[in-house]
Amino acid sequence: MNKIALILAAGTGERMKESVPKQFLLLDNKPILMHTIKKFADFDDIVVVINKSYFNFWEKLCVKYQFTTNHRLVAGGKTRFNSVKNGLNVISDDCAVAIHDGVRPFVTKNLITKIINKLINGHENIGLIPTTPIKDSVCIYKEKIQHIDRNNLLLIQTPQCFFSKSIKKAYQQKYQLSFTDDASVFINNNGKINILLGEEKNIKITTKEDLKLFSNLI
Ligand code: CTP
Ligand code: MG
Repeated sequence: MNKIALILAAGTGERMKESVPKQFLLLDNKPILMHTIKKFADFDDIVVVINKSYFNFWEKLCVKYQFTTNHRLVAGGKTRFNSVKNGLNVISDDCAVAIHDGVRPFVTKNLITKIINKLINGHENIGLIPTTPIKDSVCIYKEKIQHIDRNNLLLIQTPQCFFSKSIKKAYQQKYQLSFTDDASVFINNNGKINILLGEEKNIKITTKEDLKLFSNLI
């Protein structure tokens, strides 16, 4: 079964507060997104979703940084949901797809291989996502503090993996605010999700501090 990577890079990076979206910022002298794409170089196909107004910019970056990993570009949408949907539209119904945030460059090839292979050996209606336990105390803060049992909580990462036929069907639903990742879309369409242990260093680069703190991980 063909393995396809769907890499999301059409966000504007508001929380990073930089003049270009965070996926294009440099990490170890190369745009973050290039580090991420390279992790999926063994896949049969790589679809990268970018805002159409950045196509040209990206193509110039590829020349400048001599980036040769094969990939194709798809135009992004207003929300992550729409961006994923646009990407899924160009992917066939008979493959396994790993949907990954373009700003998680520290994911290891080991995790990617493990999760996609485990998916393929499973059932069509079961997706697989990486999660990590929480170490800090956690509370809800609404007027007063209410602690909650962290043993019932998990942090969710990407790549989130699915059989393309099933995830494409799930993305036919109308968008809801509660769709914060692909698993939430899948579950709302009666899909089941299994979890696998993610990686602490597989962080989503969100703020300037993240970039400073974690840049030596690459
Ligand atoms: N993303 C996307 N299309 C959108 C919104 C987000 O492809 N319309 C992608 C981002 O490029 C990122 C991933 O989804 O790789 C996770 O989103 P997030 O970290 O929230 O990135 P941004 O939305 O760009 O950042 P912010 O929320 O700070 O604006
Ligand atoms: Mg966002």
